[in-house]
Amino acid sequence: MTTDYDPIAEQYQRSKQQPWRHCIECHTLMELIGDLSGMSAMDVACGEGFYTRLIRQRGAARVVGVDLSQGMIELARQQEARHQLGVDYLVGDARELSGAEPCDLVSAAYLLNYAGNRQELQAMCDGIANCLKPGGRFITVNCNPARHFPTAPSYRKYGFETTVTEEWREGTPIRWTFHLEDGPFDIENYHLDTAIHEAALSNAGFHTIRWHAPRLSPEGSSPTEVGFWSTFMDHSPVAFLECVK
Ligand SMILES: C[S@@+](CC[C@H](N)C(=O)[O-])C[C@H]1O[C@@H](n2cnc3c(N)ncnc32)[C@H](O)[C@@H]1O
Repeated sequence: MTTDYDPIAEQYQRSKQQPWRHCIECHTLMELIGDLSGMSAMDVACGEGFYTRLIRQRGAARVVGVDLSQGMIELARQQEARHQLGVDYLVGDARELSGAEPCDLVSAAYLLNYAGNRQELQAMCDGIANCLKPGGRFITVNCNPARHFPTAPSYRKYGFETTVTEEWREGTPIRWTFHLEDGPFDIENYHLDTAIHEAALSNAGFHTIRWHAPRLSPEGSSPTEVGFWSTFMDHSPVAFLECVK
């Protein structure tokens, strides 16, 4: 599994400014997460804390962000130092979470797509389930396991591209190239299909597993904007998932 975000932490942070992140990714994920008043939450693979902060601002009483990358956690802590929200950030591996204090919600934007095989996916799902109370929810967005990326359209007008150079099968790498003003950078995800995800989640103890298509925010839904987003909405490179333990 290739997950070294330390060298690209700052570039990844800037990629969160691309319009699709707000109009689609963030809008859909936060709608699914809903009101968190008084709840406890853990944001796994929190990166520089983009969703961790939003979850806290949605009213969660206690929020912890966990990520494998020291560089990402440093960026998250810098922002916490500048604008204190009372969020704790820890370096940790989703595959080894023990869940000393089970939460009401675990979020994990773009974690599961780092599993290169079924065993890694199972370890991630088990780690997440360990951190949840019975009845607790797991909400996530990932590279779409149902998309056949070798025949996907170009997403260049949204600021990124996806490329597959190997035979399409379990574990095939999917390269995402993000185009920023000062040049591109790449990250790599791995293909595991929908059925493999559902089996791992079910084995981990999730009894409700619902996939959600992306939703366009009101600002992206104006008559002038809606056509611009049609390629993304009709051939979504990302998929949202809501599970209950
Ligand atoms: C694409 S970034 C997403 C960051 C953040 N969730 C967001 O949406 O802005 C993926 C993150 O997953 C983290 N990651 C990958 N494998 C992990 C693991 N096994 N445990 C914890 N974090 C992991 C990486 O370090 C990286 O910060």
